[in-house]
Amino acid sequence: MSEPVIVFDKVSKYYPMYHHITGGIKQFIFHLPSAIKSFRSTRFQALQELSFSIQPGERLGIIGRNGSGKSTTLGLLARVLKPSSGRITLRGRVSPFLELGMGFHAELTGRENILLNGIILGMTRKEVRKRMDAIIEFAEIGEFIEQPIRMYSSGMLARLGFSVVAHLNPEILLIDEILAVGDAVFQKKCQDKMLSFRQKNVTIVFVSHAMSDVRTLCNRVILLDRGKPLITGAPDAVIKAYEGLPA
Ligand SMILES: Nc1ncnc2c1ncn2[C@@H]1O[C@H](COP(=O)(O)OP(=O)(O)OP(=O)(O)O)[C@@H](O)[C@H]1O
Ligand SMILES: [Mg+2]
Repeated sequence: MSEPVIVFDKVSKYYPMYHHITGGIKQFIFHLPSAIKSFRSTRFQALQELSFSIQPGERLGIIGRNGSGKSTTLGLLARVLKPSSGRITLRGRVSPFLELGMGFHAELTGRENILLNGIILGMTRKEVRKRMDAIIEFAEIGEFIEQPIRMYSSGMLARLGFSVVAHLNPEILLIDEILAVGDAVFQKKCQDKMLSFRQKNVTIVFVSHAMSDVRTLCNRVILLDRGKPLITGAPDAVIKAYEGLPA
């Protein structure tokens, strides 16, 4: 086996929980050390010692109910979040596609945003220019490519965003649900594109609530439940476990 491109080693993530100061500000200040301690202790654990590793070229699905920690996991992989404890090892350039309009500027046109996003993703201007036509052709948003992206619909933003990450030599591609806002034709096109990455050994981490997409695309799936992995394995078995979770 080759070296894994992604390793999560007992990764936990806490988010602070916000609450009102009870007993008034005076009480709070008089008992400052204990008040701070109680503030610190009220935090929410979104991921609990999550460990997994991904081999180059794998297409890993992460599924689970709302709030189970999927986006948190992708955020950690994209390095927009820091783990509270544990270690994350990444080998390769990460191309995240986590939110609509991520890395885009509302007042710039689609074409200008392609350049901006390409540079954010670590490409040179020349490299982006070389791929500009292919990106525009794949996105299929017609003359809107010359309009500021504040005029775009959600689906158009998803089209442009996916087209950019998919054409700029991704090594590790992270996708968080976003494709769901695209129409059926475009979703199919994205899936074909991702499957075509098999030959290029691109690693994909795919989060979705659409089980049919997970089944088609992924070779392995993790089911998260309240921040913990319940089961990891072949798509069919893991999807079955997910569908059998108690209400
Ligand atoms: N910035 C944040 N601050 C505080 N809590 C957060 C933050 N982001 C996420 N959480 C909490 O962490 C938990 C996991 O959230 P996460 O977004 O990772 O879930 P998810 O599996 O992606 O859910 P969904 O299917 O709804 O997208 C949730 O309980 C959520 O409330
Ligand atoms: Mg999410």
